[in-house]
Amino acid sequence: MTDEKLVAKAIEMRKFSYAPYSQFAVGATLLCEDGTVFTGCNVENAAYGSTICAERTALVKAVSEGCTTGWVTLAIAGSGEDFCWPCGACRQMLYEFAPKLRVLAVNQHGQFQQASLSQLLPMGFGPASLE
Ligand code: THU
Repeated sequence: MTDEKLVAKAIEMRKFSYAPYSQFAVGATLLCEDGTVFTGCNVENAAYGSTICAERTALVKAVSEGCTTGWVTLAIAGSGEDFCWPCGACRQMLYEFAPKLRVLAVNQHGQFQQASLSQLLPMGFGPASLE
């Protein structure tokens, strides 16, 4: 799948966002090497800290369906002027499964920029760190 299609699907996923507190809708798509795409949106909560980000929703969906390897590209579509890079907690969660993941950060206009997770989280703590 092309980056453009993955980004378009992430933008589409914003429509499912539950963000009554921040009004900041986010959609995410996670592409795996076999072509499978896991999707997500942010889901907020009255207990604000219980909120889950769009990309972590996609991550949890992938893992809970048995897909823990072969993650290639993650697109995150925010609804602001800025490109929507993953928060620190999401970077850490992603690092566990895909330290070399490509990340596409999308803004409200559908423009996007690319970075690797290793750029976003250098010298990360992962499974190997526990050995
Ligand atoms: N959010 C995401 O879903 N992904 C990000 O990368 C940044 C932040 C969500 C969390 C919260 O629902 C809203 O955006 C505002 O922080």
